[in-house]
Amino acid sequence: MNATEEDVVLERVTGDSASTLGNLFELYTYDFSEQLPLRIKASGRFELTPGDVWWTRDDHFAYFIKLHGELAGFALLRAGSRVTNASEVLDVAEFFVLRGIRRKGIGRIAAHALFRAHAGAWEVRVRQTNVGAMLFWSKTVENWVRQPVSSSPFSVEGTAWNLLRFVTSSP
Ligand SMILES: CC(C)(COP(=O)(O)OP(=O)(O)OC[C@H]1O[C@@H](n2cnc3c(N)ncnc32)[C@H](O)[C@@H]1OP(=O)(O)O)[C@@H](O)C(=O)NCCC(=O)NCCS
Repeated sequence: MNATEEDVVLERVTGDSASTLGNLFELYTYDFSEQLPLRIKASGRFELTPGDVWWTRDDHFAYFIKLHGELAGFALLRAGSRVTNASEVLDVAEFFVLRGIRRKGIGRIAAHALFRAHAGAWEVRVRQTNVGAMLFWSKTVENWVRQPVSSSPFSVEGTAWNLLRFVTSSP
C-alpha cells in the first residue's frame, strides 16, 4: 500500500543519533557498491561514515525519514552548490529509502517535506548510471514545481552526472 503524507515524518539527526545514521549509511554504501568500486573492509563493513558536519554545522541539514515512527531512510542536505559558486543553493548530498519499502511514495513524500521546509533554490546531482534515482527525482520535483524540469549533464573526473536545478516555495 502506498504511504500517505501522515505516515512519513522527517526527524533531524542529532549527535545522539549519529550511530543510527552511521548504520543506515552503511546500507546506503552497500547499495552504491553496485555502481561504484567500493571495497568492503575486513570488518565486513564498508566503514564509510557521513561525518559529524551533519549535526555540528548550521549550513548542513540531516534528517531521518520515518514511516509510522520507524526508520525508513535519511536525507542529507547542505548549503552551497557543488557545481557552481552559488552559496545560497541547497545541495542534496545523499538521499536514501530502505530497499524493502521502496516504490510506495515514501521518497516522494519525504522530498516534498524537505522542499516545504527549505524553500529556495535547489540542486540535485544524480550519477547517470543511477537511472532509477534520475526518474525518481525528475518525477518528484516536477510534481512539486508543477512544470517540467530539465536536467543538464556534467562530468567530474570521468564520472558522468545529471544536474537538476529548481526553485521551491512553500505551497
Ligand atoms: C531513489 C529512491 C530514494 C526512491 O525512493 P522511493 O521511496 O522508492 O521512491 P517513490 O516510491 O517515492 O517513487 C516516486 C516515483 O519515482 C519514480 N521512481 C522511483 N524509483 C524508481 C525506480 N527505481 N525506477 C524507475 N522509477 C522510479 C516512480 O515514478 C515513482 O512513482 P511510481 O512508483 O508510482 O511509479 C530509492 O530508490 C533509493 O534510496 N535508492 C538508493 C539510493 C539512491 O540512489 N539515492 C538517490 C541519490 S541521488
